[in-house]
Amino acid sequence: MRTINNKFNIKMISENFGQYKYNEIDKYIELGGFTGLKVAFEKGKQHVIEELKISGLRGRGGAAFPTWQKWEGGTRELDEETFVICNADEGEPATFKDRELLLQDPYKVIEGLTISGYMRSAKTGAIYLREEYTYMKHQLETAIELSRKKGYLGKNILGTGFDFDIRVFSGAGAYVCGEGSALIESMEGKAGKPRLKPPRIGSKGYLQMPTQSNNVESLAVAATILKIGASEYAKHGYGDSIGTKLISICGNVNKPAVYEIPFGITLRQIIEDVAGGVEDNKKVKFLQLGGVSGPLVPASLLDTRYTYEDLWDLDLGIGSGAILVADEDMSVIEYIKLANDFFHHESCGKCIPCREGVHAYKKIIDKLINRTAKKSDIDYLLEVGALMKETSFCGLGQTAATPVLKAIKYFKDELYTATID
Ligand SMILES: Cc1cc2nc3c(=O)[nH]c(=O)nc-3n(C[C@H](O)[C@H](O)[C@H](O)COP(=O)(O)O)c2cc1C
Ligand code: SF4
Repeated sequence: MRTINNKFNIKMISENFGQYKYNEIDKYIELGGFTGLKVAFEKGKQHVIEELKISGLRGRGGAAFPTWQKWEGGTRELDEETFVICNADEGEPATFKDRELLLQDPYKVIEGLTISGYMRSAKTGAIYLREEYTYMKHQLETAIELSRKKGYLGKNILGTGFDFDIRVFSGAGAYVCGEGSALIESMEGKAGKPRLKPPRIGSKGYLQMPTQSNNVESLAVAATILKIGASEYAKHGYGDSIGTKLISICGNVNKPAVYEIPFGITLRQIIEDVAGGVEDNKKVKFLQLGGVSGPLVPASLLDTRYTYEDLWDLDLGIGSGAILVADEDMSVIEYIKLANDFFHHESCGKCIPCREGVHAYKKIIDKLINRTAKKSDIDYLLEVGALMKETSFCGLGQTAATPVLKAIKYFKDELYTATID
């Protein structure tokens, strides 16, 4: 199993991991599966919103927008047909927690998407799977079919009069397709490029239908909260960061895996008590939080609590929940080269700040690698990075400079050492 127990031993989101296989819907039901959906039907939409509010659930796709707020906005009854999406693109390097949910608890994801469909009065929903996860398509389609047979999907679900069904789409291997509107373009068979906003997808999304899109984990957590009750979920966590989070930890740690951890433990505890410490007893040099678009965090900040608020106070963030650990042997310059090469490859080219920015970054980082850069090149990285952040068309370009900007903030001496002046 790729998800390892840890000393905090809290299992709410991951309660069913290792407990059943994708074609064993009866086992899922025995484990209390579909209770969240029943609670939503029995107690109604306002109850769901109240529970999500108490739980403090923030979107787990990276932007951390409060889920209750997104869902409340969608409860207005509309004359037009609506649509819901489960974003399983998971293209952010170092992020692999949605994969575990899809593989180890697919019915909970289906249940969460059905609850989201109920909230949005949608008839149809889609799971958008990243291309590399196409191997899961058959399993998900089997789980959907079995859910239909048991009356949890299809016409008149559980006798409530609510009709809802789910399709699975496969992506085509572009990171930018995780962005909501690019994902929809891709589902519509077009090139996966972000749309101009407004209109936002909430009012005109898939095939122009008002569309609500959520991350895999957000949907699974929503189903969990309705099942166990928000007050139970809220027994864990710290301050306003309530409950638990699935993290994917990788890099130079002894036990890279997906873990469920309570918000509020420190970054140091995550490395030492959860992921088994740094390989070969080396020292941590830095972490990267939230995937390759996230900030680098130097070892001096390891006692920071893993909460939204503590990290935001330092201009850092949880993002997708990925944590990459780099030990003392890692060169920051080599690392930012890897990060920028990824964006250079993935930029869709639609807007100038991102397309040209990542290209300019590549040239300067290559100069740093070849020891031909000047200190003024580092100033230029700052200037271009600020421009990319402020003026790029979508989140890809707005965050592509983050690793480099944080490298300059925390590792300026190492970058200066690589210059010729
Ligand atoms: C370039 C880019 C890639 C993204 N990739 C993903 C992804 O793979 N999965 C995901 O859930 N959200 C991804 N997002 C965030 C989504 O746009 C969106 O905020 C999220 O899916 C909303 O769901 P949530 O509120 O449940 O987090 C990405 C955003 C950008 C800009
Ligand atoms: S920011 Fe980058 S990925 Fe996004 S639209 Fe512009 S070029 Fe494309």
